[in-house]
Amino acid sequence: MMDDPIQIAAKDLANTQKVVALTGAGISVESGIPPFRGKGGLWEKFDPMEYAHINAFMKNPAKVWNVLIKEMKEIIDKAKPNDAHKGLARLEDLGILTTIITQNVDGLHQVAGNTDVIEFHGNFAWQRCLDCGSRCETAKIDVTRIPPRCECGGIYRPDCIFFGEMIPPQHLYRSEKVASNCNIMLVVGTSARIQPAASIPVMAKQAGAKVIEINTERTPLSEKISDYIILGKAGEVIKRLTAEIERLKNLNPI
Ligand code: APR
Repeated sequence: MMDDPIQIAAKDLANTQKVVALTGAGISVESGIPPFRGKGGLWEKFDPMEYAHINAFMKNPAKVWNVLIKEMKEIIDKAKPNDAHKGLARLEDLGILTTIITQNVDGLHQVAGNTDVIEFHGNFAWQRCLDCGSRCETAKIDVTRIPPRCECGGIYRPDCIFFGEMIPPQHLYRSEKVASNCNIMLVVGTSARIQPAASIPVMAKQAGAKVIEINTERTPLSEKISDYIILGKAGEVIKRLTAEIERLKNLNPI
């Protein structure tokens, strides 16, 4: 029974504090948001250098709005947290999980109830005017005129980063800090191919943390960095994991 990795992880997590999660696109797949890489991924349909690089946006904002941003807005506007987001919020309630570092820009961790979320790649919930810098909620943006413009006439861009842009330094700094201070890092639904986010579990490991991966497939972290991987859909795995932790905590209250 104990070779079930969900039971092992539940035991590892049940009596621990200072757990940090690093999440990627895979955690939102069960909310209807496609991932970037792999089957059905966005980058199978679009060349990221043509649509998701800052130079491509600055050269032709209307093209990037029409092909990529409008579609992202439609999908994210209607997405709701799934069992994986809800499970991570429950782990915060239980005093186990302190912080989520997410590469996602969909805001679903906050909707689920997590209160300390580092949005490593920024946030799609807001748009920022390229000229005057004023912000507008993405949900309120009128997309009948592309590219959408601010009252000042400037073009809106999403408040998340494009390829070719820097990670906001305060997010990078805090992520490194929490990663180096956690007891366990949960790495959920990321292909761990994009830097610097992919180095965060390495940092946690080097500082002595246990690294537990949850993914539908193995990643470059799986061999050398992760202590073990739980293969499966994030929603299903985290729901079972949370239920098992609750059971263990009732049996062995701290
Ligand atoms: N549950 C768990 N994992 C899943 C699921 C699921 N239901 N579905 C897919 N996955 C896994 C895939 O196996 C893959 O490893 O999620 C991962 C998604 O990988 P990517 O699409 O590469 O997403 P991510 O790692 O977040 O990408 C990082 O790349 O293009 C940029 O800026 C973009 O933030 C993004 C960054």
